[in-house]
Amino acid sequence: MFSKIRQSTTAREAFDLVKSDLQDVEREISVESVASVEAITTINQYLQAGGGKRLRPALLLLCARLFAPPNDCARRLAAVVEMIHTATLVHDDVIDVAKTRRGRPSTNIVWGNHTSVLAGDWLYMQAFQVALRERNFHILDLLISLTQMMVEGELLQLDRLHRVDITEADYMELVDRKTASLFSACACLGAVAVGADESTESKLGEFAWNLGMAFQLVDDILDFTSTEKILGKPAGNDLREGKVTLPMIYSLEKASAEERRAVETVIGESSYEQVPFMHILQILERHGAIGRAYDRAHSFTDKSRAILAAFPESAAQRALNSIIDLITERSS
Ligand code: IPE
Ligand code: IPE
Ligand code: MG
Ligand code: MG
Ligand code: MG
Repeated sequence: MFSKIRQSTTAREAFDLVKSDLQDVEREISVESVASVEAITTINQYLQAGGGKRLRPALLLLCARLFAPPNDCARRLAAVVEMIHTATLVHDDVIDVAKTRRGRPSTNIVWGNHTSVLAGDWLYMQAFQVALRERNFHILDLLISLTQMMVEGELLQLDRLHRVDITEADYMELVDRKTASLFSACACLGAVAVGADESTESKLGEFAWNLGMAFQLVDDILDFTSTEKILGKPAGNDLREGKVTLPMIYSLEKASAEERRAVETVIGESSYEQVPFMHILQILERHGAIGRAYDRAHSFTDKSRAILAAFPESAAQRALNSIIDLITERSS
């Protein structure tokens, strides 16, 4: 136990290990944010200033660091994945009709849907411009497949909105596509940047895929259990938007007819006016759904931990282990 504590790195220390690389990544993003049309530059700067955890670039850099100190290629690709992530959030907020992102009005609220879609497209393509400079088809292949996976995921989600008959398998497919695929690509790109071989790249990809699965499960749990102040985006939003996520899938498996009606009312009315959010929380509580969803998230992080253990012991490996802990322990 003691040795575990001694060896463990806090999440802060995990990010500190790649702090100067992350500063370079911020500089790269800000240089690459400038468009020939001012409105796009303004939106990009608003997005960058909004903060965010920078989890994906940190993941990429730490994966690279398992083998060698991150090089220019790794830093550029770290900027690429954060730009892609940001572009998907811009589009996601349009699709989800979100009002808040990172504690501030989302781009769709400030600039409207039309401008936001175009700004998201621009940022997406700018990320590809940066990636293209590596003149590496494998990198482009990874990024193109990833983008198609994510778009397909968002589309499938749209198709499944307002449906209470979503199965756990349907849900996992969405999570795989919309979130885990990007995590996996981050790890693969980190490995590619420092010249790791194909089998190492695919093991690291699997490690990060499991991490991404857990990350989205926790995001969906926090949507019920956290608050807007902590999250920087409203709580209770998913169900109101008609998204039946894992805690609700578990509850619906055991729900009474009355409980099911309550859930259907929130989805049907897109509001908690008739059925208060507290009532929904009580349903989840009665069926132990939050605990069960956390158990499922832990089953993914357990897999990540097991895959990571096969890599040589190093500061980067310890940092990645603490990022695994952070995923399930986080509150925002
Ligand atoms: C939000 O990701 C989108 C999901 C996959 C749930 P993050 O929670 O990493 O967003 P930021 O970058 O920290 O704002
Ligand atoms: C994840 O889905 C977003 C993307 C992969 C783009 P959500 O819709 O749950 O993300 P949040 O909760 O708005 O951050
Ligand atoms: Mg959303
Ligand atoms: Mg969404
Ligand atoms: Mg969410």
